[in-house]
Amino acid sequence: MIEIKNVTKIYNGGKAGEVKALDNVSLSIEDGEFVAVTGESGSGKSTLLNLIGALDAPTQGEVIVGGRDISRLSEEQAAKFRRENVGFVFQGFYLEESFSVLVNVEIPLILRGAEEKAREARAREMLAKFDLADKEDALPAQLSGGQMQRVCIARALAGGAQLILADEPTGNLDSKSGSAVMDVFRTLAQEGVTVVMVTHNKEFAARCDRVIELKDGRVQ
Ligand SMILES: Nc1ncnc2c1ncn2[C@@H]1O[C@H](COP(=O)(O)OP(=O)(O)O)[C@@H](O)[C@H]1O
Ligand SMILES: [Mg+2]
Repeated sequence: MIEIKNVTKIYNGGKAGEVKALDNVSLSIEDGEFVAVTGESGSGKSTLLNLIGALDAPTQGEVIVGGRDISRLSEEQAAKFRRENVGFVFQGFYLEESFSVLVNVEIPLILRGAEEKAREARAREMLAKFDLADKEDALPAQLSGGQMQRVCIARALAGGAQLILADEPTGNLDSKSGSAVMDVFRTLAQEGVTVVMVTHNKEFAARCDRVIELKDGRVQ
């Protein structure tokens, strides 16, 4: 479970460019829930995702993930938390262009020091799950956008993450590929993975269990 308690995030506090990106936000998300985060550009969606994923820390308040307060971790603790618990999926895929699809999916396992045979087996299992078994030797540039995003999801899950944080994952996809990504997330949620997805797509948001709408850093 994710619990956000009275979280405020201020960028550039006390300086000329001070911005209150989140303003006393409280919410909770159950394990296995598939949640959409919506709102206008600048409303604080990415900031919220970054705090849940320990990519950044709140200025005030607590972020509790799986019973653990992650709001005041050191850089090193935050990196370890991310490696072990969180799979990130972004709009602009961020695949390693010079590595094969298989190696891209192995990255979280390489970071964890997993042994090669185990790594490959796990990566192949993930690729098969997302209908990419025949693409393991391809380079990212040889894939369609929908396939690239499925590789990103496979990579996000390869390390065993039970939490997927996806920031506009369908933003660069045609509606059919976007819909396929939604199907993948739905299946994962049924398997108990928590999925928090920022989206501008109303139709996709309506397919989630719940919609959290942000406006000016507050939950509507
Ligand atoms: N690293 C940062 N430094 C300064 N301001 C930021 C930073 N990241 C986001 N902001 C500001 O915080 C507000 C919320 O941003 P963001 O969470 O990215 O919104 P969204 O994802 O909904 O578009 C915006 O006003 C944005 O300009
Ligand atoms: Mg954003």
